[in-house]
Amino acid sequence: MIKKFPFIIYALTLLLACCTDNQKAAAQTTASLKETFKNDFLIGTAMDARQIEEKDTAADRLIKQQFNAVTPENIMKAEIIQPGWNTYNFDLADKLVAYAQQNNMKLNAHNLIWHSQLPPFMHNVQDADSVRQYFINHITTVASRYDGKVYSWDVVNEALNEDGTLRNSVFLQKLGDDYIVEAFRLAQKAAPHTKLYYNDYNIEQPKKRAGAIALIKKIQAAGVRIDGVGIQGHWRANNVPMEDIEESIKEFAALGIEVMFTELDLGVLPNPWDNNTADVSATATGSAKMNPYANGLPDSVEHAQAKAYADLFTLFLKYKKNISRITFWGVNDGQSWLNNWPVPGRANYREQRRNSCPDPAA
Ligand code: XIL
Repeated sequence: MIKKFPFIIYALTLLLACCTDNQKAAAQTTASLKETFKNDFLIGTAMDARQIEEKDTAADRLIKQQFNAVTPENIMKAEIIQPGWNTYNFDLADKLVAYAQQNNMKLNAHNLIWHSQLPPFMHNVQDADSVRQYFINHITTVASRYDGKVYSWDVVNEALNEDGTLRNSVFLQKLGDDYIVEAFRLAQKAAPHTKLYYNDYNIEQPKKRAGAIALIKKIQAAGVRIDGVGIQGHWRANNVPMEDIEESIKEFAALGIEVMFTELDLGVLPNPWDNNTADVSATATGSAKMNPYANGLPDSVEHAQAKAYADLFTLFLKYKKNISRITFWGVNDGQSWLNNWPVPGRANYREQRRNSCPDPAA
């Protein structure tokens, strides 16, 4: 097991510190991530629309070389796949299905029910009957179309508050406490050949974890299928909650379901808040203090990040029997959402004078 660490650090550094001069040589001589962990867990990446359209040549090469699982970063979210009431746009999702099939990758579809990135028409819907109709139609239409074509669905995303209670979303307000069980019941019916997951951030934290466990038990007690839980893993390199993560793996695995780390990224910039939220609607304003590495990432920070990844993967390997997939939220840190969230326009880490990686084979 120990023998894997140099590969991990090397391969992860290659991925995360894209745009270095050593990239070409490293890409040719280092075992890929999917090869290194082939007997342990799937290794995935989020893909953005340009990557799905194969317009990002350098990223495309890395994706095919390094990963055996993919998650669409945005294009299967409700606002994109159902932009108008009962009007669907499946173009990019169909393209991703074909891409995953051709490249032998497991596609985790993300996601069916989430309070964020809802179609604009949902902001005007007030009556419970319409919300229920949307809920049933969306799950049934989208999940059945892709049954047998995608490997898995994040059926419900981010339904919990930090204290473990249910988030006060439009679905909770209009459909009541049982909406999550109902979402899984509908997904099970529409997609009998697809794995069904609950996905959230901070559910490694004790209170929120207890809420997630209660939720999963409730689904199971209703006789409805849930195959796994995704811990998103948006953490900071200097503050990874290792003990909470370990305890979570144990407690979730004890429920008899797969455990996954589904949106892993370790930011290197200061946190504008005390807590470690990944709420996409939480934004903060920038300042020079909040963007300390605008002109270059110090080696010490890069090494600390690589060490944090290596420590995490040591833990993941310890529980490889319980963990089915580790997915990075972005092909490399240069194009990660963290460059624009929660503070727009920071280097986390994208050098600000350079926006994309050169093609390593060019
Ligand atoms: C993020 C995407 O990365 C961004 O491009 C988008 O603008 C907002 O959403 N939790 C999730 C993901 O489940 O879908 C979010 O992705 C990040 C937090």
